[in-house]
Amino acid sequence: MSPDDLANLIRSRRSSLLIDAQREVPRAVVEDLLELLTWAPNHKRTWPWRLAVLTGDVRRALGESIADVMAAQGDDAPKVEKTRTKYLRSPVVIAAGAAPGESPQRTAENRYAVAAGLQNLLLAAHARGLAALWGSPMRGANAAINDVCGFEPDTEVLALVYLGWPTGTVETPERPAPSINWL
Ligand SMILES: Cc1cc2nc3c(=O)[nH]c(=O)nc-3n(C[C@H](O)[C@H](O)[C@H](O)COP(=O)(O)O)c2cc1C
Repeated sequence: MSPDDLANLIRSRRSSLLIDAQREVPRAVVEDLLELLTWAPNHKRTWPWRLAVLTGDVRRALGESIADVMAAQGDDAPKVEKTRTKYLRSPVVIAAGAAPGESPQRTAENRYAVAAGLQNLLLAAHARGLAALWGSPMRGANAAINDVCGFEPDTEVLALVYLGWPTGTVETPERPAPSINWL
């Protein structure tokens, strides 16, 4: 791949929920994306990613579980109801969490490694013609997501990634030029 090809891939990746919820993504493709996630830089080689692939009915179970937490903490009712079915919008939802480290700094570094891995996944998905969107876990729902996903209770969930085949294209948000201190 040339530098221009790589730049084009990076620039043309978009966060998109224009996804065909009915068209399955082959398991081997998802496995490939998750393997690429693990090539992120990782201080101390702690391999901190915790990963779950949700398809079929468990996507609804995830939404219901999160919505119940939201309702219990008094979140806006329409938002709660929307959450019950929101993970049915893509055929695959990937939950990605980070294991804690032995100190606050190591915990932060583990989080950064998982975030870097998620960008690998998003770029690799895009290269395969898939659409994806990194969704934030809902406030207060970390424990509920860990439970549904079979993660250890101390896992910090960083993303619920919607993944599937695109049904359209989204606008490209403008990027301000980076402010750089050349020293
Ligand atoms: C940590 C993180 C959390 C995000 N959470 C959400 C989210 O909850 N909902 C959403 O629509 N987009 C979410 N996004 C995607 C951003 O909205 C998106 O990256 C941004 O609008 C820029 O668009 P682009 O990715 O197409 O360049 C998240 C991105 C990151 C890195």
